[in-house]
Amino acid sequence: MIILGIETSCDETSAAIVRDGVEVLSSVIHSQVEKHRPHGGVVPEIASRMHVETLPGLMLQALEQAGIGWDRIDAVAATRGPGLAGALLIGYSAAKALALRLGKPFRPVHHLEAHLYAVFLGPDAPGLSGSMPALGLLVSGGHSCLLHMKSPLDMRLLGQTIDDAAGEALDKGASLLGLGYPGGPVIERLARDGRADFVNFPRARIERLPVPGLAPELCFSFSGVKTALKYHLQRTGGGAGDSPADLAASYQEAIFDALATGFDRALARVNVRSAIAGGGVICNRSLRGKLEDVAARRGCALHLAAPVHCADNAAMIAGLAAHVPDLPLARLLDEDIHPRLPLGACA
Ligand code: KG4
Ligand code: ZN
Repeated sequence: MIILGIETSCDETSAAIVRDGVEVLSSVIHSQVEKHRPHGGVVPEIASRMHVETLPGLMLQALEQAGIGWDRIDAVAATRGPGLAGALLIGYSAAKALALRLGKPFRPVHHLEAHLYAVFLGPDAPGLSGSMPALGLLVSGGHSCLLHMKSPLDMRLLGQTIDDAAGEALDKGASLLGLGYPGGPVIERLARDGRADFVNFPRARIERLPVPGLAPELCFSFSGVKTALKYHLQRTGGGAGDSPADLAASYQEAIFDALATGFDRALARVNVRSAIAGGGVICNRSLRGKLEDVAARRGCALHLAAPVHCADNAAMIAGLAAHVPDLPLARLLDEDIHPRLPLGACA
């Protein structure tokens, strides 16, 4: 089955064509980062307008790269949520209209579930059924959470950040350090030559949870580390005597150490066949290394999303869509995007 997927939940516009949930025939991503950079973060209105401008051309590019025509598309899929409402609407409406025009089924996809599914894309990917149940770690600009997965569409939240997401903390830290936006990749580059133990930024201990039902020791808090960096910079006159590489390395270390600790605790609790991780921050080599160390120590198979499928992309949408039921025609016009879409809503 060949699925055309569309992703427009935030600041990347993407179209991709995936065969049978695994084989990526094409994947085109247009990053809007240059448009948002002057504002120091994503401006929703700009994001929506850019999606409108670029999506039609990207869909044609995806077909061309895959070397197929519209007639070969068996279903159309798009991100339903979570994400920015105006941005989601562009891709979701376009995908529904396209499905109607082609006379093919439409499939809604959950963005976070798709980030984890990214692990199963490509020729070197592990088999899906042999990997489940799995512990899922999702680390992106908007989310940081641990999930117990029975299948790619059936998962239970074990813990999550109670304030900033890890990517958000990296972006905010980079902004405090005057490194620009987005922060994760710049901090990673700088940190390679820095000492991770230069400043001991705090690792939060969570005792009480705003969300009942989760385990505090499997939750994260990243707003304190950002505040600690801010105070460090105030105390040291903007870090004048410090090497930016040391600050970047120490800052990312505090965030990744907390993620690795939560991952380790979760692995000790759940009975799984593998652990999988996805999301933009999983691109980071230092974090990948830490997760590999934890999994090796626990004797658990670990599958990390390929770096090309970590950040927002439509291949993960078209891939997961192979497992999602068609949205019945009668619901196509009524069912809309959902900026806070709950897990499991597309199963
Ligand atoms: O998954 P993603 O593209 O979008 C969301 O769904 O949020 O993740 C974006 C986040 C940003 O915070 C960005 O700084 C971070 O991923 N990121 C990285 C790296 N590349 C992107 N963080 C650390 N190291 C990287 N190499
Ligand atoms: Zn994402």
